[in-house]
Amino acid sequence: MKKRILTGDRPTGKLHIGHYFGSIKKRVEMQNSGEYDMFILIADVQALTDNFNNPEKVRKNVKELCLDYLACGIDTEKTTIYIQSMIPETAELTVYYSNLVTIARLQRNPTVKTEIAQKKELFGESVTYGFLGYPVSQAADITTFEGELVPAGEDQEPLIEQCREIVRKFNSIYGNVLKEPQIVLSSGKRIKGLDGNEKMGKSLGNAIYLSDSEEEITKKVMSAVTDPNRIKKDDLGNPDICMVAYYHKLFTNPEDVETVCKECREGKRGCVACKKELAKNICDYLKPIREKRKYYEERPELVEKILKEGTKKAKAVAEQTMEKVKKAMKLDYFN
Ligand code: TRP
Repeated sequence: MKKRILTGDRPTGKLHIGHYFGSIKKRVEMQNSGEYDMFILIADVQALTDNFNNPEKVRKNVKELCLDYLACGIDTEKTTIYIQSMIPETAELTVYYSNLVTIARLQRNPTVKTEIAQKKELFGESVTYGFLGYPVSQAADITTFEGELVPAGEDQEPLIEQCREIVRKFNSIYGNVLKEPQIVLSSGKRIKGLDGNEKMGKSLGNAIYLSDSEEEITKKVMSAVTDPNRIKKDDLGNPDICMVAYYHKLFTNPEDVETVCKECREGKRGCVACKKELAKNICDYLKPIREKRKYYEERPELVEKILKEGTKKAKAVAEQTMEKVKKAMKLDYFN
C-alpha cells in the first residue's frame, strides 16, 4: 500500500515563491515519485476562522489556489485536490476531537499563539472559539484521510504535533483506529522577502507571486534591498547582506552564482545589471508555471470539473473513515 499524504493550504491569497520553495515543490516531487497517494485540501473552512467576515475573499481564492497547484505541476491523474467544506465528515470529527483537547493546550500552541498576536485587529482582546480550535479541525482534516505524511512548512509543525496528541488520546480511549501523521519539511530554509524581512507575505509587500507577469517580477526585483554600503559600481560589495545575491542562489545556476558573488566583492559588477540578470532568471524559472496557470485560467469549466471530481473521490474515503470512528466510539446505532 502506498503511504497516504494529506496536505493543503488556506485559500486566502495567491501563492508566492516562498510557498513554492517551502512546500509546493516538495509536494510535486513526492507526487512524481509515484510512491505516495496524495490528497491536497483547499482549507476554506479553516480560512473562514480568520476571514469569517469576508466570505467572498475565501471563495475567490479557492479557485486561485487550485490554479496555483495545477500550474506548479500537481497532476490530478495522480493527486486528489478537494474542497474542505464539502467533506462534512471532517466537521463531524472535529466535534468528537474537541473532547480530547484542552483549552489550555490550544492556547499554548506556538503557531496559534503567534497568529492570535498578529490578528489583534480582527479579534481585539478575545479570540473566537473557532480560531482557537482550528488545530482540532486540522487534526480532523488529516485523520479523515488517514494521512501519514504531511509535506508543509515549518510553521505547521506545532499543528501536526497537536494532531498526534489527539490521535494518541483517541486511540487510548476508543481503540487503535487512527494513524499518527508525520510532517515532511522541505530541505530548503524559509525564503526571505525582497526587503530582507524573514517572512515573505502580501501584507509586507515583499513577495513575488507565481502568477506575477514578467513586468511585475522585473519591477519587484529592481526594488530589492542590496548592500547599503555599496554606492558606486566599483565599491567593494558584500553579497552576504544583499537580497539580490540571496535570490541568485535560488534561481541562477551555481557556477554563475559564484561569478556574481566574486564580481560583487571585487567591485566589478553593478547592482542594476545584477538585478536585471536576476529578474531574467526568475522570469525564465517561473515561465512554465505562469503558462500552465494561464492555460487553466482560460478553462474555468475544466478547473471546476477537477475540483468536483476530486471532492467526490475524497468524500468516499472520508465516509469509510467515519464508519470506523463511529463504530469505535459506539455511535453505530442502526445498521
Ligand atoms: N494550516 C494550513 C495553512 O495555514 C492549512 C491546512 C489545513 C493544512 N488543514 C491542513 C495543512 C492539513 C496540512 C494538513 O495553510
